[in-house]
Amino acid sequence: MESLLKSIPGTVVFQDEILLTGKDTDSHLRNLEEVLKRLDRIKLMVFPDQSLYCIRQRLTSSRCKEAAWRSRRVSQAQSSRVCSERTMQAQPGKQHSSSPGSKEELSKLESRYLFCGNTLKITRDFSSNLGISAIIWEAGLVLCSFFEQEKISFSGKKVIELGSGTGIVGILAILLGGEVTLTDQPIVLNQIEFNIDKNIPAAIKQHSKVSALRWGENQDQFPTDYDVILGSDIVYSPQDFPSLLRTLRHLSNANTVIYICSKMRESMGAMNFHNKLVPQHFNSEIVHRNEDKEINVYKVTKKGPSVVGQPQV
Ligand SMILES: C[S@@+](CC[C@H](N)C(=O)[O-])C[C@H]1O[C@@H](n2cnc3c(N)ncnc32)[C@H](O)[C@@H]1O
Repeated sequence: MESLLKSIPGTVVFQDEILLTGKDTDSHLRNLEEVLKRLDRIKLMVFPDQSLYCIRQRLTSSRCKEAAWRSRRVSQAQSSRVCSERTMQAQPGKQHSSSPGSKEELSKLESRYLFCGNTLKITRDFSSNLGISAIIWEAGLVLCSFFEQEKISFSGKKVIELGSGTGIVGILAILLGGEVTLTDQPIVLNQIEFNIDKNIPAAIKQHSKVSALRWGENQDQFPTDYDVILGSDIVYSPQDFPSLLRTLRHLSNANTVIYICSKMRESMGAMNFHNKLVPQHFNSEIVHRNEDKEINVYKVTKKGPSVVGQPQV
């Protein structure tokens, strides 16, 4: 599907899910129509709530849905069943998911991953229109694998995660010893809390905190002494880059280690962010690269003298 939709502006594909945007409402709708046309060519249907995410331009999910319904490429009758099957097919290998059950169960789908000896049970909440926040992004999985491969420990570290989504990365960081604050936009916090409840034993629950943090808006309510900042697939919206950088600058000091794991989508400015914008204030190096998936893990530290020795994580 990635190659089928590759040349459409503002469109990215994650496994069987499509993320779509446009410079303005008209171009957004044009991109959507083009996506639907090409899917139709190969007789693929789309489920707007679960497989097609329209971001930006205030194109509400219902307008996207309307366009999809209009083009008759949506199957309502089968959507729940396919939704379960789709998740089961989505990440073979390390993962399996819950089998179809009641309607309520179907709106919350659990997938399981094994990292660093921990089985993570991650639930995606389809009932609250969370859009891209209800996807477990490949970059998140790559960052978890990186922690495993590099035997990263967060023991005794004060950690904050930006754009946690389902919370998979922050949850692993708690299980690896960190005192972790998982953050995202307010609407996403219930999903994160749900996943923390499912994965973090009561004995270490106090090592987790969930807070609303909107980049560029309320970072000043957070401290500036984090040892580690984490972010997976948070670099995809050029309009948000200045706010994201402002947030990173506020939260970090010269001893903070920042791991950002990014899918290198050229059309969404990832190269510009990492190669031009980040280096204005930070040192940055690629510490892991997944060539097939075009995903890089960057280790980033703030420019300037360190307070006590060099950053260590
Ligand atoms: C592509 S998802 C990645 C989710 C998760 N980190 C993962 O790898 O699966 C990006 C996340 O960033 C959050 N986000 C986007 N813009 C944001 C902003 N301006 N402030 C705070 N969070 C934001 C979204 O709500 C979403 O959960």
